[in-house]
Amino acid sequence: MNQSTSDAHILVSMTYASRANPDVSAKDFNEILKQAQTNNAANGITGMLIFNRNYFLQTIEGPRAKINRLLYSLIADQRHHDLQLLGSRELKHREWAKWSMNYASPSEANAAVYLKYSTTVDFNPYLLSAEAAHNLMHDLGAQKQ
Ligand SMILES: Cc1cc2nc3c(=O)[nH]c(=O)nc-3n(C[C@H](O)[C@H](O)[C@H](O)COP(=O)(O)O)c2cc1C
Repeated sequence: MNQSTSDAHILVSMTYASRANPDVSAKDFNEILKQAQTNNAANGITGMLIFNRNYFLQTIEGPRAKINRLLYSLIADQRHHDLQLLGSRELKHREWAKWSMNYASPSEANAAVYLKYSTTVDFNPYLLSAEAAHNLMHDLGAQKQ
């Protein structure tokens, strides 16, 4: 049994913030989302992605070995930089089981949801605690269901 097989049953979640590269367009964003959804569906990964023009905030959850492998790809991805882990933990169950990758964008319409968990008016995931990021993603995700 190799390493990736032996820990395939351990479910983990990882949340990070990153800065979008300035030349990433709305079209690029759609491609990222589509690529995430297609790959994740094949790999048993689920999660939530929040983005605006400047930042990404993402939770990925799934088998530990697959999540670690995806982390390497994410760090190497030129479409964003300064990837900073906000939190990582083992899960008893998935929180985004219905979504290969759910998504939401902070907007004027949901500004109050963001403000509820943050000290700043503008969306900046680097300033969020792991718990605030978790709660924010759940509130924004719940609005979409
Ligand atoms: C913000 C962001 C989020 C991403 N999320 C995922 C993801 O959830 N799953 C995934 O497979 N790739 C995701 N990617 C793409 C990966 O970095 C990488 O390009 C991709 O996994 C490589 O897939 P490929 O081997 O099929 O080309 C994301 C990229 C960015 C910039």
